[in-house]
Amino acid sequence: MLHQTERYQHSTSEPLLKKTFAILLGSVLTAYLMGMVLPWPITLLHAVWLQGLLAALASYYLFHLPVWWAAIHLLFFPGLLSAIVTLNLPAYWYLAGFITLMLFFGRIHHTRVPLFLSSREAVSTLAELLPKDCRFKLVDLGSGCGGLICKLARMLPHGRYHGIETAVLPCWISKLRALLSGQNCRFEWESIWQHDLSGYDVVYAYLSPVPMPRLWEKARREMHPGSLFISNTFAVPGVMPDRCIRLHDFSGAVLYIWQMP
Ligand SMILES: C[S@@+](CC[C@H](N)C(=O)[O-])C[C@H]1O[C@@H](n2cnc3c(N)ncnc32)[C@H](O)[C@@H]1O
Repeated sequence: MLHQTERYQHSTSEPLLKKTFAILLGSVLTAYLMGMVLPWPITLLHAVWLQGLLAALASYYLFHLPVWWAAIHLLFFPGLLSAIVTLNLPAYWYLAGFITLMLFFGRIHHTRVPLFLSSREAVSTLAELLPKDCRFKLVDLGSGCGGLICKLARMLPHGRYHGIETAVLPCWISKLRALLSGQNCRFEWESIWQHDLSGYDVVYAYLSPVPMPRLWEKARREMHPGSLFISNTFAVPGVMPDRCIRLHDFSGAVLYIWQMP
């Protein structure tokens, strides 16, 4: 699974958009040519699934992108077209789907950070690293739907917890969770780049390789000496962590830990 992480870190440093266009263009042309030369006629639906399959194979084997890109190529466009052809839904359903995705994933084209959640093991390992006998303040940068913060607040109620999230729907789900649970946690709809890190003893991030160099610079400028900067899965290029903890979760993730000088 470390292999998977390496694939991701490698792939996102290259121009992903260009690769995606190449995959789409290549798969559409190949599917079209195959449709012309095959001895039996194929329907539009078959052609689209064929294109999806070709794109998924090219994404994984030719461009060495992580496996979820293959799943997206295989399922998204063919699935959408199949729904259009077979379900006959009114057009506003697709608009509603698009708006829901926008609200859930925020400006993902800009941040290059999708929504995926820390595993149960990441939460329990993080809890072990936190002080048991004194108060502390922790922030989750890009807190998603607030699960990590709410679980930590339940496990270690003497801490103060803060979540920062730009995607609208996950942020409001988090706020609702905090309200209903009555726990010592707070969520804000804000960009991590606007948020001051100087008041925290622990800063946790589970983002993507893209923001890590900039985030490290911010952490170094703002975090106080002795505080911990913890990144789930994504290392800071060229900066050796003080400690690494391998998690035995579904993705074989690693927690990278730096103590601020
Ligand atoms: C991989 S999820 C992690 C969710 C949660 N921290 C967890 O560990 O379960 C990353 C989240 O960061 C959010 N995000 C990405 N860039 C951000 C930014 N610049 N400011 C605030 N949130 C951001 C995304 O919307 C996404 O919900």
